[in-house]
Amino acid sequence: MRWLVTGGLGFIGAHFIRFALNALPHVEIVNLDAMTYAASPERLAGVKDDPRYRMIHGNICDPAAVDRAIDDGVDAIVNFAAETHVDRSILVPETFVQTDVLGTHVLLEAAREHNVARYLQVSTDEVYGHVPEGESSEDDALRPRSPYSASKAGADLQVLAYWTTYGTPVLITRGSNTYGAYQYPEKIIPLFITNLIDDLAVPLYGDGLQVRDWLHVDDHVRGILEVLLHGEIGAVYNIGGGNLRTNLELSRMLVDMCGRSMESHVEYVTDRPGHDRRYAVNCAKLRELGWAPRVEFEDGLRSTATWYRENEAWWRQYRKHGTWVKS
Ligand SMILES: NC(=O)c1ccc[n+]([C@@H]2O[C@H](COP(=O)([O-])OP(=O)(O)OC[C@H]3O[C@@H](n4cnc5c(N)ncnc54)[C@H](O)[C@@H]3O)[C@@H](O)[C@H]2O)c1
Repeated sequence: MRWLVTGGLGFIGAHFIRFALNALPHVEIVNLDAMTYAASPERLAGVKDDPRYRMIHGNICDPAAVDRAIDDGVDAIVNFAAETHVDRSILVPETFVQTDVLGTHVLLEAAREHNVARYLQVSTDEVYGHVPEGESSEDDALRPRSPYSASKAGADLQVLAYWTTYGTPVLITRGSNTYGAYQYPEKIIPLFITNLIDDLAVPLYGDGLQVRDWLHVDDHVRGILEVLLHGEIGAVYNIGGGNLRTNLELSRMLVDMCGRSMESHVEYVTDRPGHDRRYAVNCAKLRELGWAPRVEFEDGLRSTATWYRENEAWWRQYRKHGTWVKS
């Protein structure tokens, strides 16, 4: 089996590639990645010489690059490629529409033309928008509120339209907030850990009471693989860790783990415009396929903090202190 994985030099895509090559000896993977600021080849240093792995530098918005990547035929496309940072989407929304919506359209056309057996779109629970109570189910309305989540929702709707209109064999996963080793240090958990390592305060948006459901990257990629192999064509699957915490609670855990204090190391900053207060997903559908999250939140967070302490050289090359968004 040969798969095209896009955005495989990114945080979750790289974990997925390593996991899939390891778990499935009969799988070959072609990785198409535009190498934006968020890409890091070091995430795949361990597999770069594996004969079952090939990297192609190219943009999913470019039909010629996508064609080149699937020249020899592929059995599946797994689309991780995206602009992913909500704060950036508020500053430069057009790049999000380009990659997340238009890029997805180009991949869907390629899937259609090449009769790919499975197309999996990696999406996010943010497409449901703010969920004041209860949990989002897969058939709930999409009410995205940031340029990022609106672009991801636009992609999801394109994907579902290709299933309805052309019978393209699609699947969608909607993962919740993900954390773990090798996450780019603009995202809240690595940003906070690296600030705390450097004895800097962590910037907490608004009152810090926004709720997120934290999912370890190992659990996320196991869920995606499960859906790719055994999901029902045309269906959407939520993937959540079941770890609902406010950002304030998260800060307290990280501050404790890094041996700092809330009083001296938390700085309340002006809230993000349109900041969703709460996300929560119901994962019963994925659990029916036999998946369940395995990483306990406190253990996962502690091992992630340890990883950043032991891999300073990796994150220091990307980080500028005190900046939320790398220019
Ligand atoms: N990080 C999370 O918490 C989270 C949660 C749920 C879903 N997701 C989704 O998972 C996917 C991966 O997220 P991530 O955090 O690993 O992202 P990331 O920002 O770490 O990496 C994105 C990767 O995509 C590549 N890329 C960007 N634009 C491209 C383009 N036009 N063509 C080809 N490659 C391109 C980048 O070079 C990078 O390697 C995204 O689709 C995201 O929406 C992320």
